Amino acid sequence: MAVREIIKLPDKRLRLVSEPIKRLDAGIRKLVDDLFETMYAAPGIGLAAIQIGVAKRVFTADLSKKEEENDHKPYVFINPEIIWKSKETATRQEGCLSIPDFYEDVERPSEVRVKYLDLDGKAREIEAKGLFATCLQHEIDHINGVLFIDHISKLKRDRLVKKVTKAAKATKTAKKVEA
Ligand code: NI
Repeated sequence: MAVREIIKLPDKRLRLVSEPIKRLDAGIRKLVDDLFETMYAAPGIGLAAIQIGVAKRVFTADLSKKEEENDHKPYVFINPEIIWKSKETATRQEGCLSIPDFYEDVERPSEVRVKYLDLDGKAREIEAKGLFATCLQHEIDHINGVLFIDHISKLKRDRLVKKVTKAAKATKTAKKVEA
């Protein structure tokens, strides 16, 4: 197991559509171990593989310390798919380990049903509400190259992207000077 580096905006890999997992081999088990370790170290309640630079459709989630509304334990979602969304929506403040220090309200369906494979390759379905429903939608967005900032106003998003792009450039220049 290893804590991996979490890639951050404006890294373009965050916009990749991740590939379905065809075989649950040792490589995938190692990837899942790393996702858990990196997620707990951050700390975060969910982490998609693309956030450590691996474009495969898998994410981990653990909300057991955050809420009691759902049945919680450490979860692995492989090839997850939303099969039902409630018409009713809920607005929650979201953040993302790949977009540090930025939080905004996002409106999403308040309940979802997700089908996925577990680490043994068994097909499962889960219904989630509350924070868990938000988390699942946020992570499934990640594997489709979508970020929570895509759900906020264009003005706020553009301002943020400009800021982080400028900061990333400044870091690059600073590194060059050091060398
Ligand atoms: Ni995120």
